[in-house]
Amino acid sequence: MNPIWVRTASRRYAVHVGRGILGSLPGLLARHPACRAAGGSAVMVSDASLFAGPAGRAASALERAGWRVSRGVLPAGEAAKTLSSLDKLYGFLLKSGAERRTPLVAVGGGSIGDAAGFAAATYQRGIPLVHVPTTFLAQADSAIGGKTAVDHPLAKNAVGAFYQPIFVLADVETLRTLPRRQLMSGLAEAVKCALVFDPAFARRLAARWPRVRAGDLAELEHAVRTSVAWKARAVSADEFDLAGKRELLNFGHTLGHALEWATGYRGALHGEAVVWGMRAALELSSGRGWLRRDRPLADALLDGLAAPAWPRGLASSDLWAAMRRDKKVRAGRNVFVLLKRIGEPARVDDVTKPELAAALRRLGVTK
Ligand SMILES: NC(=O)c1ccc[n+]([C@@H]2O[C@H](COP(=O)([O-])OP(=O)(O)OC[C@H]3O[C@@H](n4cnc5c(N)ncnc54)[C@H](O)[C@@H]3O)[C@@H](O)[C@H]2O)c1
Repeated sequence: MNPIWVRTASRRYAVHVGRGILGSLPGLLARHPACRAAGGSAVMVSDASLFAGPAGRAASALERAGWRVSRGVLPAGEAAKTLSSLDKLYGFLLKSGAERRTPLVAVGGGSIGDAAGFAAATYQRGIPLVHVPTTFLAQADSAIGGKTAVDHPLAKNAVGAFYQPIFVLADVETLRTLPRRQLMSGLAEAVKCALVFDPAFARRLAARWPRVRAGDLAELEHAVRTSVAWKARAVSADEFDLAGKRELLNFGHTLGHALEWATGYRGALHGEAVVWGMRAALELSSGRGWLRRDRPLADALLDGLAAPAWPRGLASSDLWAAMRRDKKVRAGRNVFVLLKRIGEPARVDDVTKPELAAALRRLGVTK
């Protein structure tokens, strides 16, 4: 399979997407002159359960090819993204003798990728980073584009850096063991790409929903590949999220992030919150007279994601207050991505508090 290329000012790198390709890790690593110069040492960062699965297999493949691999274990999930986890990770890198050219291979979901990616960006001012994503969300979205971060007690993703990997290896086979709820949450990012950029992808996803949702690997591979291609395009045009292209990927995220924050990150998973954000964005779009003919297809895709119920008692004024804290606020205005049609996004910064309240009332989630 041909890789998908991301071309930014700071780096040009390949995203390899396929099934059963984990074993190609040593060969891909050996192609990089900086890594060859590392004297055959690599560090791998993952969580304990993944070291018993794909991370263990990836480490063994490297060792069979002659690499010495030091294994750094982070807590599973969001707990990996704390300043204290990061502190321990720096300690692990120092004790392993990691040098400027030692590659750091991050194996896991978005949490491991974000935390280990930030460690790679900052340890000794930057060491080579490889992402081996193992959740749908990470394969389709978070491993591409160079956003790395850990959380601060006062705000999620508050401390981070843009740092591109040297390559990404997404083996869709690793998704076999992914819990269904995680898969569905990740699929929200594929639906996002389809609605914002690609009517044909939207129609295909809708037509094949039963197979996609059942975890059919051929369907998942197509969905990962298509989402990566769109994200690669946006990132290549706007590496640092300043020119507006990358901002389109925030469809559903303005309200989604606010919902995650307002529920203390304990309610919905990220993708589930984004489903509610996309529902609100569709309703706001319809409220402006847009999206007429395409609304049924967009609704069908979101229905297929089966997000959990709206958090009890969460009012639109709570969300409005939460949105003001978002990194996406520009000059005091919330930026929303709405849709004129599927594949025709519109970035707007004039959504008012009453307009959002009315949209949420029409969705039947708030009074
Ligand atoms: N950097 C970005 O651009 C970006 C984009 C979107 C989201 N994110 C971040 O990603 C994080 C969420 O990541 P996520 O949804 O991938 O979940 P996650 O990384 O938090 O992982 C969730 C759980 O899934 C398990 N898991 C991972 N792969 C598995 C597999 N193949 N089989 C079985 N279990 C597996 C993990 O062990 C963990 O317990 C959030 O912190 C979010 O902020 C970052």
